[in-house]
Amino acid sequence: ESPKKIFSGIQPTGIPHIGNYLGALQQWVELQGEGHHVIYSIVDMHSITVPQDPDQLRQNIYDMTACLLACGIDPDKSILFQQSSVSQHAELAWVLGCKATMARLKHLPQWKVKSGPKEEGGVGLFTYPILQAADILLYKATHVPIGVDQVQHLQLAQDLATTFNYHYGQYFPQPTAILGDTKKVQSLRKPDSKMSKSEADPKSRIDLTDSPEVIREKLKKAVTDFTSAVTYDPDTRPGVSNLVRIHSACTGLSYEEICQQNEGIETAKYKFVVADAVITKLDPIRTEILRLQKDRSFLDDVLRDGARKARDFAEKTYSEVKKLVGF
Ligand code: ADP
Ligand code: NA
Repeated sequence: ESPKKIFSGIQPTGIPHIGNYLGALQQWVELQGEGHHVIYSIVDMHSITVPQDPDQLRQNIYDMTACLLACGIDPDKSILFQQSSVSQHAELAWVLGCKATMARLKHLPQWKVKSGPKEEGGVGLFTYPILQAADILLYKATHVPIGVDQVQHLQLAQDLATTFNYHYGQYFPQPTAILGDTKKVQSLRKPDSKMSKSEADPKSRIDLTDSPEVIREKLKKAVTDFTSAVTYDPDTRPGVSNLVRIHSACTGLSYEEICQQNEGIETAKYKFVVADAVITKLDPIRTEILRLQKDRSFLDDVLRDGARKARDFAEKTYSEVKKLVGF
């Protein structure tokens, strides 16, 4: 098997929650160890497609850097950088955008959801899937770890690679998705919807910086149902099943093993078992985040080195693209 060229991005939207960790970041960490070229970007240019306070955004970029490092992203094994530090993302996005149609972009789910029925979103919100395509193609990535919600955006990147190659000659490889565990971690308050930063109630999610007391408190208040037993059946018992899923992800135990081990235990007591598993998993990460957040100059160094390495790839690709296009 030839080494993969892996690219993925995450928006600096604050401290990640356990859903982000189990659904994305943990896989990012694992992919580093297998001899692949791995490039991870904190995609700050994407985040300004919706309103951002500049000071908060700056803080969020540092926080996300600290969180990624604390989760195990190793700058010696992968390239970790801030998107806006590499100007070729915007330049390639322009070239690709000239090959994308309005009709194609209009049908992407993010636009439909975030701009509403009156299409009130900004042009950036409309075109950011093109910027995502540029993020991926700039590094000639062959594999892109994504959530199921991003499948259509990756298809756009694939189509733009094909269209570019059709017009200018075979150049970009086809990027393929690495779909991890497609089952989402659910909200602790509304177990029928996924855990998300966009849910107003902070008790709906466990953040990577939550203290053991806060984790216990949030899990204690997690919405379950009127059956007091530990079973796994996400359709009829989404609340308890979500706890089993989190428990499983934190311990490596299977759902069956968990249900067996906790047979006859009341749901209220089981919540403390889950809390212990989550605390064991997250506490080293939390301690490291808190340590790194205080070391801005180290975070600056990591981002500066990462940008330098990313730029080496990006400059090469974009200068070749310019020649192909006729610039
Ligand atoms: P949020 O909905 O909290 O804003 P993002 O949309 O920023 O999360 O997602 C960042 C990454 O985390 C994506 O790869 C996404 O698929 C993953 N992710 C987000 N929420 C969950 C969840 N509840 N369970 C599993 N993975 C998730
Ligand atoms: Na989201």
